[in-house]
Amino acid sequence: MAFVKMRLVYAFILMMGVLCFYFSMETFEEPPLVLKKGHKKFLQLPDIDCKQKPPFLVLLVTSSHKQLAARMAIRKTWGRESEVRGQRVKTLFLLGASDSTDEMNSTAQEGKQHRDIIQKDFKDDYYNLTLKTLMGLEWVHHFCPQAAFVMKTDSDMFVNVGYLTDLLLKKNKTSRFFTGYIKSNDHPIRKKSSKWFVSKFEYPWDRYPPFCSGTGYVFSSDVASKVYNISESVPFLKLEDVFVGLCLAKLKIWPEELHTKPTFFPGGLSFSVCRFRKIVTCHSVTPQTLFSYWQALENSQKLNCPSV
Ligand SMILES: *[C@@H]1O[C@H](CO)[C@@H](O)[C@H](O)[C@H]1NC(C)=O
Ligand SMILES: *[C@@H]1O[C@H](CO)[C@@H](O)[C@H](O)[C@H]1NC(C)=O
Ligand SMILES: *[C@@H]1O[C@H](CO)[C@@H](O)[C@H](O)[C@H]1NC(C)=O
Ligand SMILES: *[C@@H]1O[C@H](CO)[C@@H](O)[C@H](O)[C@H]1NC(C)=O
Repeated sequence: MAFVKMRLVYAFILMMGVLCFYFSMETFEEPPLVLKKGHKKFLQLPDIDCKQKPPFLVLLVTSSHKQLAARMAIRKTWGRESEVRGQRVKTLFLLGASDSTDEMNSTAQEGKQHRDIIQKDFKDDYYNLTLKTLMGLEWVHHFCPQAAFVMKTDSDMFVNVGYLTDLLLKKNKTSRFFTGYIKSNDHPIRKKSSKWFVSKFEYPWDRYPPFCSGTGYVFSSDVASKVYNISESVPFLKLEDVFVGLCLAKLKIWPEELHTKPTFFPGGLSFSVCRFRKIVTCHSVTPQTLFSYWQALENSQKLNCPSV
């Protein structure tokens, strides 16, 4: 009798063990950090009526309070364009909230003047870049689904809006389209000191799905709603470009090339007029450099480049 009882006890222990193992695997599969959508209202909205005048391309530029010089440079160069190849384009800036009332006041002033700022009440911090990007997607979803294409880029970028427009028109793919500098085989960096450190708790797997460098990616506007909608059910990552890639993978939207030749340069590129006529983005551009590139391009419109 005692023997049977012991056997039952063993069986019970074994069963509990299996259950524990099963549940621990379950939690490993689903990291508990999931983004909660903040239904907070916008602090600033830009002056653009997408319903009346649907833009072909909206450029959303992540920016921070201190980057006034960069915003001004963009407003006077590639962000100045309102019509390219007969297509309506619009450049807008994405901002969070600063602890400094001075900064909040001056960006409120700036927004009133230029009417090109989208702002919400989350702390403006590098590690909140994912929230900033999602704010942009939320804005497109609610206020500008009529746009044909959206670009997300940064404030230290050169963007050739004209060439991008040419390529988008030529590509002629208007839904479930996502392009940029594709990283198809990237992996999480586990070194704690790295800016891009991601713990095994945040992301347990060894590979990221394909994603595009956050320095500049472009998508058909339906993707904004789709990513925004699914973002709540994707484990939150502070690396915004990887996070968007995770959303895309869940939606089974795969980034594709815009052109047969490289056009997105997240690592920067040395300047020449002919080269910069045929690229979409170049990273690490200071406001002064941006002005000088722009001047050079404007002043050489008659220059013929060898077609290779
Ligand atoms: C910011 O603006 C508010 C109201 O517009 C004003 O009460 C406050 O004094 C301003 N703060 C600074 C630091 O200028
Ligand atoms: C991100 O924003 C939220 C909401 O404002 C804030 O609580 C959090 O501290 C911010 N994160 C960082 C790293 O600044
Ligand atoms: C663009 O694609 C659509 C079908 O998706 C087609 O009807 C149209 O003719 C194409 N336009 C150009 C300019 O290729
Ligand atoms: C948003 O997601 C839900 C389920 O997660 C789905 O039923 C709905 O169709 C989605 N909406 C859009 C616009 O994709």
